[in-house]
Amino acid sequence: MPETTRLRDRERTAERLLASSAKLSFDPLKDVDWDSAPEPGRYYCPPHRLSLYGTPLWETLDEERRIELSKHETASIASVGIWFEEILMQMLLRHAFDQDPTSAHVQYALTEIGDECRHSVMFAKMISWMGVPAYGARPVAHNLGRLFKAISTHSQTFGGTMYVEEILDAFQRELMADETLQPLTRQVSRIHVIEESRHISYAREELVRRRLGPVRRRYEQLFIGLIVYFATVSLIHPRLYRAVGIAPEVGSAAAKANPHWRATKVEMAAKVIGVLDRAGLVGRTNRWLLRAAGVIH
Ligand SMILES: [Fe+2]
Ligand SMILES: [Fe+2]
Repeated sequence: MPETTRLRDRERTAERLLASSAKLSFDPLKDVDWDSAPEPGRYYCPPHRLSLYGTPLWETLDEERRIELSKHETASIASVGIWFEEILMQMLLRHAFDQDPTSAHVQYALTEIGDECRHSVMFAKMISWMGVPAYGARPVAHNLGRLFKAISTHSQTFGGTMYVEEILDAFQRELMADETLQPLTRQVSRIHVIEESRHISYAREELVRRRLGPVRRRYEQLFIGLIVYFATVSLIHPRLYRAVGIAPEVGSAAAKANPHWRATKVEMAAKVIGVLDRAGLVGRTNRWLLRAAGVIH
């Protein structure tokens, strides 16, 4: 595709996304009922998506503790969402820094930073509302994030962004649709799904605009593999199992060996792994990492 056509196409995408943002955006401070109390007897996310679902350990938990586990796992995923959104905000700022701010492309990057800023506050408020800790990523992943947000390349920025946004999207789409769950976690999911669908289009289209040579492609694949690995294994913090009376190492080992949990991860990641594959970002260099993350068989 000639450069001028590519730029025109890029501007058109951004103009469409800016128009959509103007029509439907949320203010989580006002659009979520923070004064409501958690409803007794309701799960915070679908129980069959929990890391221990279907294991012998799951059978030892009564209903109350299963609900408690759903609260801590939802909070853990949200806290990792904040970790990634903070990384993404910096990567988008770096992306915008050297480009023409009057372009729709840069204005949408800035709009997306605004969205992510509100999302992180929303997730943080939800974690406080639940009364649980913000588990976050473990130290190694956290510090790799510190480095990554400062030096990521174009493919890593948009490939990594798409990965995290798509797996969260798959989880939250199910959560928002299930009427038996806590109304507040459903509303938070709904707001996030609507605004993220624009971010996913932006990242997906931007990702395929950059052509990679064979050597460069291997290099980018390795980084994409590392992002997929660390983002996925960070979702459920081992410490949270303590909240339901399970030792962290026992809970983690059970989750790791759990075929239901593996199937959930494979299912949540299927769409985005397909997109990354079509962009040339899945191959021999990173398949072992995707397998270690449990997102491909
Ligand atoms: Fe977000
Ligand atoms: Fe996003």
